Amino acid sequence: MEQKELTLELKGLTKRYGDKTVLNDLHVMFHPGVYGILGPNGAGKSTMMGLLTDTVRRTDGEILFQGEETLKLGRQFRARLGYMPQQQGMYDQFTARRFLFYTAGLKGLDKKTARRQIEEYLNMVGLADAASKKLGGYSGGMRQRIMFVAALLGDPDILILDEPTAGLDPEERIRIRNYISEISENRIVLLATHVVADIECIAEQVLLIREGKLLQMAPPHVLLAQMEDRIFERICRPEELHGLMQAYPNGNISQRKEGVVYRVVGDDCPDGFIPSAAQPNLEDVYLYYLKGDRQTRSIQE
Ligand SMILES: Nc1ncnc2c1ncn2[C@@H]1O[C@H](COP(=O)(O)OP(=O)(O)OP(=O)(O)O)[C@@H](O)[C@H]1O
Ligand SMILES: [Mg+2]
Repeated sequence: MEQKELTLELKGLTKRYGDKTVLNDLHVMFHPGVYGILGPNGAGKSTMMGLLTDTVRRTDGEILFQGEETLKLGRQFRARLGYMPQQQGMYDQFTARRFLFYTAGLKGLDKKTARRQIEEYLNMVGLADAASKKLGGYSGGMRQRIMFVAALLGDPDILILDEPTAGLDPEERIRIRNYISEISENRIVLLATHVVADIECIAEQVLLIREGKLLQMAPPHVLLAQMEDRIFERICRPEELHGLMQAYPNGNISQRKEGVVYRVVGDDCPDGFIPSAAQPNLEDVYLYYLKGDRQTRSIQE
């Protein structure tokens, strides 16, 4: 049978609550790969994910899976989706395994498939032995791993992960991010996060969202290249810091052997600063596009 390449397309996707527009005319075409969705609190990331999973009602626009409207596909589309929401019901009294069988049931998996997938993914996330314990006794990282397994049940083509590494220690974060990489082949993975390191490591494309608008979609290396010649620094005395922080609130302070360095990102070199020799990182991209009160930016490639 001919296998059609997976596509998911947003056309003019818009969400308003009353007269407040929280997602504004989004146009994106997704192909298999990991997409990092980066934006400050309230930017509209979870709303976009809610619209994709039809847990939030759309105001306007289309969402097309393989070219077909997802609202028309209904169950057929939902069966291809795995969703790990930002706010999770906790099911503290359930053992992990019972919770996963319950989730598999909701997804309509038969017992045998459910058992096979649950054991396979529990092994993958290193929790096969702990899975007969109640979720109430799990650490934050273990819970996130179980929720990740729950999202994977049914072998979805599209995986929607809303801040899966929030609040986790570095070791747990790295684990989750490695699992995401491991399962991303031939799937469309949408990953909302504030953790730029997660995106740097695994995202092939980054979407920058601010105030409901998509500012940029590009691979990390393209965004990093845009920051070259836009990073400036100043070695300063401790007593100067306060004034600099007020004048340039989006600066980054670091300690170097030469002294305290104040680093800013922007189009022009501020007085008293010099172009930095340091490599740009995604935090610079974040600050450049998403922070401060400057107007929406757009750099044409
Ligand atoms: N039910 C609702 N009624 C009114 N406004 C809402 C509702 N749900 C969300 N919003 C608003 O929509 C905007 C986008 O929220 P959303 O949760 O999508 O942001 P986010 O990018 O996921 O933020 P975070 O990083 O904090 O998770 C916010 O301003 C929020 O207050
Ligand atoms: Mg959110």
